[in-house]
Amino acid sequence: MSDAAIGRLFPVPASDAAAQGALTDDELVALYDAPTRSPWVRVNFVSSVDGAATVQGLSAGLGDDADHRVFDLLRRLCDVVVVGAGTVRAEGYGPMRVDRAAQHARVAAGLAEQPVFAIVSAGLDLDPGSPIFTDAPVRPIVVTAGTSPQAKRDALGSVADVLVCGVDRVDTAAMVAALAERGLVRIHCEGGPHLFGDLIAAEAVDELCLTVSPSLVAGTASRIATGAMPTAPVGLELAHVLRSGDTLLLRYVRR
Ligand SMILES: NC(=O)c1ccc[n+]([C@@H]2O[C@H](COP(=O)([O-])OP(=O)(O)OC[C@H]3O[C@@H](n4cnc5c(N)ncnc54)[C@H](OP(=O)(O)O)[C@@H]3O)[C@@H](O)[C@H]2O)c1
Repeated sequence: MSDAAIGRLFPVPASDAAAQGALTDDELVALYDAPTRSPWVRVNFVSSVDGAATVQGLSAGLGDDADHRVFDLLRRLCDVVVVGAGTVRAEGYGPMRVDRAAQHARVAAGLAEQPVFAIVSAGLDLDPGSPIFTDAPVRPIVVTAGTSPQAKRDALGSVADVLVCGVDRVDTAAMVAALAERGLVRIHCEGGPHLFGDLIAAEAVDELCLTVSPSLVAGTASRIATGAMPTAPVGLELAHVLRSGDTLLLRYVRR
């Protein structure tokens, strides 16, 4: 895991050390680990200053060591990591597995050793023979819609639990309820933009962790949320601002 120095700007830090980038993993976890409702849906993204979610189709060109450090820590704090199939395919996700240190931290915090991996897909263009499923430390979940092909559902059902939530697309509010019913109440979403748009439209987002990468991308890259819209913008409250060099790590919670 990255050990990039991260300091706190807001709320105003109690010590110079906190401001200057000496936050320990435990201090970072304390800053991120405060869900006030159950279930709690946290979403994590990185964006350029001009709003791009990708560089040449991937988020890798935006995230630095501080972003990776927080990205890894957030996987310590959840029951389930939810990712849209587009992101799984684009970013080449493998099995969801946290390292030994994270496993210890999770168990000490009363969580399972490993988070569950939940993949959201309507078309189910997912290979049941992929290491995502065959090397998974815990049985993954595939969340799909009622119109998805039955044959693909059956094939994936041999390697994952398949949840049907919604008719043409996954109804993300129903998905949150279905995950919570299985005891997966700390829900952590790593994207991508279409899934985030659907979560916003369903007013199902409790928290956004946003890394602002010090870069300008322009072009036609997607924003971090796209597609669906809520009836009115969802108001957010600033929970903290962390800084690592020129990178900002923002945490917002729903008002
Ligand atoms: N900057 C960042 O932090 C960040 C984070 C994540 C991803 N990304 C980037 O975002 C890009 C992918 O964008 P994207 O918008 O395509 O990502 P996405 O939301 O992960 O993928 C869209 C696909 O996911 C499935 N999906 C999402 N919501 C669904 C719903 N409500 N119901 C049914 N299926 C749903 C569908 O899969 P099927 O086609 O299988 O039906 C859909 O085609 C990649 O380039 C990735 O690198 C950036």
